[in-house]
This record gives sequence, structure tokens and C-alpha cells, in this order.
Amino acid sequence: MAKSTNAIAIILNLALMLALLHIFPVAESQFFGNGLSTLTPIHVPVCDQVYGVNSGDTCLDVAKNFNLPTDFFNSINPNLNCSALFIGQWLCVDGTVT
Ligand SMILES: *[C@@H]1O[C@H](CO)[C@@H](O)[C@H](O)[C@H]1NC(C)=O
Repeated sequence: MAKSTNAIAIILNLALMLALLHIFPVAESQFFGNGLSTLTPIHVPVCDQVYGVNSGDTCLDVAKNFNLPTDFFNSINPNLNCSALFIGQWLCVDGTVT
């Protein structure tokens, strides 16, 4: 009687330990999952045509010359600093953003 009770107690303890071991990875993955889902997804632009900046060009000039709405021009030229254009810099003037 006492022996089988001990055996049951050991099994219950093992089950409890296994259950506890599993709580933390689950909690962690939920934490990281929630953390990642709050980040802004990256929309990767694919550039199909580029234009080399000439002396005096501005972003607006280039966008206008290629009949591109400013929003679209900006979306295919991510991280472009239009205040720091340099001659010969390649600007994307046609492409897609997925
Ligand atoms: C863009 O370039 C200008 C001129 O070099 C600089 O003053 C400004 O800080 C830059 N802006 C960003 C967001 O990097």
C-alpha cells in the first residue's frame, strides 16, 4: 500500500515537473510572438529601373519626370534622404512594393 502510494507520488511529481518545465517555453514564445507582431512589417521594394542623379536634380524633379506619385517614389526608394542627394546616386524610378 505504502509502496504503491509512493510510486504514484513519484509519478505525480514527475508529471508536475514536466508540466512546470513546459510552462516557461510556452510563456516565452508567447512573449516573443506578441513582441514581434507589434513591429511594422517590412514592405520590400523591387526596383525595375534606376536613374542616375544629375547636377541640380531633386527627388521631386525625378519623381515628376518619371510621372511617379511622391508616395510611390518614396516607397520604392526606402531610407532615401532627399536632402543629401549626390550626383550619380541611383534612384529607383520603376518597381513594385510587395
Ligand atoms: C539628410 O541629410 C541632411 C544633409 O546631409 C542631414 O542634415 C539630415 O540629418 C539627413 N536626414 C536624415 C534623416 O538622415
